[in-house]
Order: sequence, then structure tokens, then C-alpha cells
Amino acid sequence: MGLLLYEEKGHVGILTINRPEALNALNSALIDALSVKLDEISATTIRCLIVTGTGEKSFVAGADISEMKDMNPEEAEAFSAAGNVAMEKVERLHMPVIAAVNGFALGGGLELALACDIRLCSENAMFGLPEVGLGIPPGYGGVQRLARIIGIAKAKELAFTTDRIKAPEALALGLVSAVYPLGELMDAAMQMADKIASNSPMGVWAAKVVANSSVGLPLTKTAGLEVPLFGECFNTNDQKQAMTAFLEKRKPEPFMGK
Ligand code: CAA
Repeated sequence: MGLLLYEEKGHVGILTINRPEALNALNSALIDALSVKLDEISATTIRCLIVTGTGEKSFVAGADISEMKDMNPEEAEAFSAAGNVAMEKVERLHMPVIAAVNGFALGGGLELALACDIRLCSENAMFGLPEVGLGIPPGYGGVQRLARIIGIAKAKELAFTTDRIKAPEALALGLVSAVYPLGELMDAAMQMADKIASNSPMGVWAAKVVANSSVGLPLTKTAGLEVPLFGECFNTNDQKQAMTAFLEKRKPEPFMGK
């Protein structure tokens, strides 16, 4: 079994972090494999990706502490940089990415979930940034992304205290969109992924680009960002047939992504 498992169901890809003996902790080999796999996924025509972890206990329990322990500063920088690149690849995929958080999402594991577009979790999920208790800050962009999602004060609190939060609090904070019994999590994620995949790929992609490119910036800088993307969609048959279907009071044909 490799460090990553990947399968496609219809228009949906499922990527599973597979290192159960270390609660799916991210070591260099796993980060490298993830980076390569994300490049491959970005070249596919899938319309939604689900990211999850093997087992019933952990999504990803962080970066690998046994590998980091004896790193020198240069090695640590390279380790952090490689993780950052992988997180950015997740964020920039042309299709939406749903994190199905099936247990611990700590440190680099939370950072991976934060790089995804949407987070769903199981009732046993647990979130936190334990890094400062290990003598380091979160190294994969987690503080920046967490602050954008739940606000800077709470993000700082979690990063400075290392407090772990459970699924209900994560839901209340808007860190996750919904909580499910563990056995129902993947079905719920698939259902959401299928719904996303049933919409026009270009419309969904354009909405993702606008959201990612504008978050955190003032409207004075980003107003009109959608204009060219909006225009580009009018080159597609998807737009023409869906609007025609609306006016003819019928359902659109399945979207073809062109
Ligand atoms: N790195 C390396 N190994 C890890 C690991 C990690 N992050 N998390 C768990 N493991 C390993 C454990 O060492 C253990 O291995 P052995 O069986 O060989 O002893 C195995 O996974 C099972 O873990 P536990 O026995 O500890 O399981 P538990 O149920 O008692 O505890 C846990 C679960 C609370 C998640 C605990 O394992 C834990 O605290 N893990 C570390 C979490 C953490 O600090 N993550 C942040 C890492 S730093 C980081 O991520 C930096 C960054 O931003 C880039």
C-alpha cells in the first residue's frame, strides 16, 4: 500500500492519506508524494476532490515529529517550504476540494484541511495547532488560513494555547460546515461532491478563483475580479443550454464542462 490512495467515482476523486501506523502524519516522503499526486489530479477532468485519512481515528496527526526532531534550520525550512507548496497546490486545484476530517486534524493535518475549500467532519474529529508546544510555529500556512476562516483572535488563541477543539465547537466557529457520525461522513462528502460535480465546471471554477483571489483583500482592490471570468463562461455550451432550459421551464442537460 502506498502513502496515498486515490480512486475516482464518476466525476469525484477521493484522495486518502495512508500512513495509519503514524496516524497519517506527514513525513517528507508523504509530502513529496502528495505534491506529485496533486499535479496529476490537476491534469484530470474530475469536478470535485475529497481528501481524507485512513482509519477511524485520524485525518492527519500533523507533520512527522520523529523526522523533524533532529533537523537543522536549513532542513526545517525546506520541510516547511515543501509542505507550503503542497498546501498551495491543494488550494489552487481547478476543482473544489472537500476535507472529510475523520478524527485528529492536528498541526499539519489541520493545515491540510484548511487548504481545502470545504471541511466536513466526523463526531470524533479533533482540531488543534500543537506546534508551539513543540518549540515551533505552525509551518504549513495554518495560522494564516485559520485566521481567514475563523477570525484572527480565535486563530491566535488556538495557536498560542495549543488547545484542541472538538467537532461541535469547530462547527460553531465555522471551521467545519457540518458534523456527521463517523460511518456517515464519506457518504455525506460524496453527496456534496456529487452535487458540486453536477453544476457547470466552469461556473464552479470561476467562483473558486474569485473567492480565493479576493479573500482578505479590500473590495476596492478586488471589485470587478469576476468580470472576465463571467464573460469567459459565455463561450461555453453549458451556459447557453442551461439558460435556454431555464427559459423553456425544464431541467438543463448534464453539464459537459465546455
Ligand atoms: N508525528 C510522528 N508520529 C506520530 C505523530 C506525528 N505527528 N502523531 C502520532 N504519531 C505516532 C505516534 O508516535 C505513535 O507511534 P508508535 O505507535 O510507533 O508509538 C502512533 O502514531 C500512534 O500515536 P499515539 O500512540 O500517540 O496515539 P494516541 O491515541 O495516544 O494519541 C494523538 C493521538 C493525540 C494524535 C497523539 O499521537 C499526538 O499528540 N500526536 C502528535 C500531534 C502533533 O503534535 N501534531 C503536530 C506536529 S508538528 C507540525 O505539524 C508542524 C507543522 O506545522 C508543519
